[in-house]
Amino acid sequence: MSDYHITSFDDYKKVYTKSISNPESFWETLAEENFLWRKKWNKVVSWDFSKPEIKWFEGAQLNITENCLDRHLEQRGNKTALIFEPNNPDEPAKHISYRELHEQVCRFANVLKSRGIKKGDRVCIYVPMIPELAVSVLACARIGAVHSVVFAGFSANALAMRINDCDCSMVITCDGSFRGNKTIDLKGIVDEALQNCPGVTSVLVAKRINSDIKLKEGRDEWLQPLLDKAAPVCPAETMEAEDPLFILYTSGSTGKPKGMVHTTAGYMVYTAYTFKNVFQYSENDVYWCTADIGWITGHSYIVYGPLANGATTVLFEGVPSYPDFSRFWQIVAKHKVNQFYTAPTAIRALAKQGVAFVEGHDVSSLKVLGTVGEPINDEAWHWYDETVGKKKCPIVDTWWQTETGGIMITSLPGIIPSKPTFATLAFPGIQACLVNEEGEEIKGNNVDGRLCIKFPWPGMARTIWGDHQRFKDTYFTAFNDKYFTGDGALRDAIGNYRITGRVDDVIIVSGHNLGTAPIEDAINEHLNVAESAIVAFPHDIKGNALYGFVTLKESAEIEDFEAIRGEINQLISKQIGAIAKLDKIQFTSELPKTRSGKIMRRILRKIACGETENLGDTSTLLNPEVVEEIIQQRL
Ligand code: WT7
Repeated sequence: MSDYHITSFDDYKKVYTKSISNPESFWETLAEENFLWRKKWNKVVSWDFSKPEIKWFEGAQLNITENCLDRHLEQRGNKTALIFEPNNPDEPAKHISYRELHEQVCRFANVLKSRGIKKGDRVCIYVPMIPELAVSVLACARIGAVHSVVFAGFSANALAMRINDCDCSMVITCDGSFRGNKTIDLKGIVDEALQNCPGVTSVLVAKRINSDIKLKEGRDEWLQPLLDKAAPVCPAETMEAEDPLFILYTSGSTGKPKGMVHTTAGYMVYTAYTFKNVFQYSENDVYWCTADIGWITGHSYIVYGPLANGATTVLFEGVPSYPDFSRFWQIVAKHKVNQFYTAPTAIRALAKQGVAFVEGHDVSSLKVLGTVGEPINDEAWHWYDETVGKKKCPIVDTWWQTETGGIMITSLPGIIPSKPTFATLAFPGIQACLVNEEGEEIKGNNVDGRLCIKFPWPGMARTIWGDHQRFKDTYFTAFNDKYFTGDGALRDAIGNYRITGRVDDVIIVSGHNLGTAPIEDAINEHLNVAESAIVAFPHDIKGNALYGFVTLKESAEIEDFEAIRGEINQLISKQIGAIAKLDKIQFTSELPKTRSGKIMRRILRKIACGETENLGDTSTLLNPEVVEEIIQQRL
C-alpha cells in the first residue's frame, strides 16, 4: 500500500493514526511522492489558531497547473481530460485531451498576460459551465493571477460587490448562457455590474449563444480571436506554497459575503488526495460531478482534484430536468460514467419524478455515488442507493465547506462502510471533535455538539480577503484553539458523524449557503418595509425553503399584498439572485423582540415549521401578544 491510495479499512486506520500521531511526516511523504515541486519546503506546517496563522509547505515552490497538466502530457497526452456535455442534448459532446487542454490553457494565459494581468492580480470569472470556465481558471493559475469565480446565477449587484471587494481589474465572461430551455443574458448582467466597478479595465467575452451583444470600445474584446493569435506555449509562473491561488465568496452572517482565500500547495495536495480516495478513481474511469465550477465543489472536484490525478472529468452545462428528468442518466449511459457526485436537492427532485426516468438507461457503469452540500434525508439516500446504484454502489456522503477546501468527513467506497444520513468518519489528517457551548470537548460516543477541528489541514482557507479579523472572529474565536465549522453534529455508538445542520445564521437552500442578513437587507430596501426576519422551514426538494416575516411601515397604504410579495422577491433577485427568493412572506404588525430589541428568531423558526405549541420561554419578550397574531396568520 502507499499512503496516497487507501485500499482497505485496515489501511485507513493505519493511515489515519499516522496522520494524527505524526502529521508532519505524514503530509511530507504524501507531498513528496505524489506531486511536482520546483523547490522543496523548509517546514511542513506552522500554525497558530489564536492569530490565526496557518502555513503549509512553507518555502516550497511549484505551479499547480504543472501538476494538473504538464506532468500528464507524456503518459496521458491523448487521454481525455474534460468531457463537455452541452445543455442541448443534440449538440455533440466535446472531448478535450490533456494535450489540448494544456494548449488552451497556455493560449489563454498568454492572452491574460497580453492584457496586463500578472502574478497576484485578481481576475473575476463570470462564465457558465462551458470549457472556457475551466480553461480560464487554469490560465489564471498558470501565471499566478488569483481567480475569483462568481457563480453565473448571481445578480449584477452581487457580482459588482464581489468584483470590488477584491479589486479585480479584469472580468472574463460570455455573451450569454443556456439553461434548460432558457437563455440568459450574461453580458447584460456584467454591463450592469460594471457601472459600479471603476477598477475593471478589461473584459474578455467568450461566445456561446451568439446573441447580438455590444462590446464597449476600449474595454470589451471577443476572446476567441485573441486565443487564436496567442502562442500555444506559456511557461508556468513559479509560485510560493502560500501564494493565494483563488478567492471564492461564501455567505456569512452579515450583508457582506466572505472572500475565502485558498493558497497553492496545501490546497493542491489536499484536493488531489481526497479526490483519489473518496472516489477511488482508477486510470480509465470517467468521473462526473454535477456541481457548478462557481462553487467550491466545482473548483476542488471538477477542476483541481481530478486533473491533478490525471482523471477524465465531465463538465455539464445543463440542468437535471432538461429536456426531461432522465438527463443525468442519459449522460451517465452516454459517457459510461463510473463515479457520480451530486447534491441531495437534485436527488430529491429526481426521486419525486419516480423511477421511470432512471429505468431504460444503462447506468451499470456506475461504481461510486457521492453526495454533498447538505444533510441527506433517509428517503433520498435509499432512493439513490436502490434506484440509481442498484444497491451495488457505495454512497459517499461527503461533509465539507468552502472554507475547508476539500472533503473532511466521509465514508470511503468499499473501505469505510456508508451509513444512511451519516457522513461517517474523518478523513486522514482531520482531527474532528464535538464541543459543548462552553467550548469543552465532548469525548466518547453517542453524543452531540458543535463540530470543530482541532488541528490544521493543508486545504483550509487562510484568511478572508481584506478582513483577517473577520476570519478570526468567525472561525477561531467561539471555541478556544479550534476551527469552528458552524455546524452541529452527533457521533453514534461507533464514532460515525452525522451532520445535523447549521447552528448559525446561515440557511442552506438547495445546497446553497444563504446568510439571513443579506436577504433581510434586500427586503428592507423596499420603501414600504419597516423590518423583516428570515427563517428556514422544511421543503421536500430544496431541503430548506425561506419564510419571511415582514413588518410594513405604518405609513404604507397597501391594497395589493401579492404585489408587495412580488416586489420583495424581485429585490432579493436583484441584490442576491433568484436562489434566495422567499417561498412564503407573512406580513406581521410587529416582530417578536427581546427587551434589548433583538428579534427572537427561535420563535419565528418554530412558527414557520408549524410547531406552534411549545414555543419555549416567551417571558423575556417585549411584545408577547404579537406571537399569537403571528400564529393565527401563519401561511
Ligand atoms: C455547509 C457548507 C462543500 C461543498 C458544498 C457546500 C453543509 C455540506 C454536507 C453533508 C450535511 C453538509 C454544512 C456545511 N454541508 N456537506 N455531506 N452533510 N451537511 O459548501 O456552501 O460552503 O456549505 O454545507 O452545513 O457547513 P458551502
